[in-house]
Amino acid sequence: MPRRICAISGKGGAGKTTVIILVAGEYAIQGKKILLIDADPRQNLAEWWKRCEAKDNLPANVELHSAATQRSIETCLPNKTASTT
Ligand SMILES: Nc1ncnc2c1ncn2[C@@H]1O[C@H](COP(=O)(O)OP(=O)(O)OP(=O)(O)O)[C@@H](O)[C@H]1O
Ligand SMILES: [Mg+2]
Repeated sequence: MPRRICAISGKGGAGKTTVIILVAGEYAIQGKKILLIDADPRQNLAEWWKRCEAKDNLPANVELHSAATQRSIETCLPNKTASTT
């Protein structure tokens, strides 16, 4: 059964991105398959991903998608298509 974890806060610099990377890493180490969705228009997770890629150090079991709108987030989710309403 998939588990969805979101970090949401209106406060900048609260640690949302950091905690999501750490939690994802813990699950990935356990062999769980992780889908990270970067919904921040500033794309901090995508930047981190590019740096990992440049160092040839992408984490195993983790996939990253950038999606800044509800519709694009929905299309990223497994077994879910974008709603038409
Ligand atoms: N538990 C923590 N203890 C100390 N520093 C932390 C902790 N969590 C995050 N930080 C630091 O705080 C800063 C902001 O963290 P982070 O980028 O994860 O926050 P954010 O909520 O995603 O910010 P933004 O709203 O800008 O996206 C980073 O420099 C990070 O290293
Ligand atoms: Mg962030």
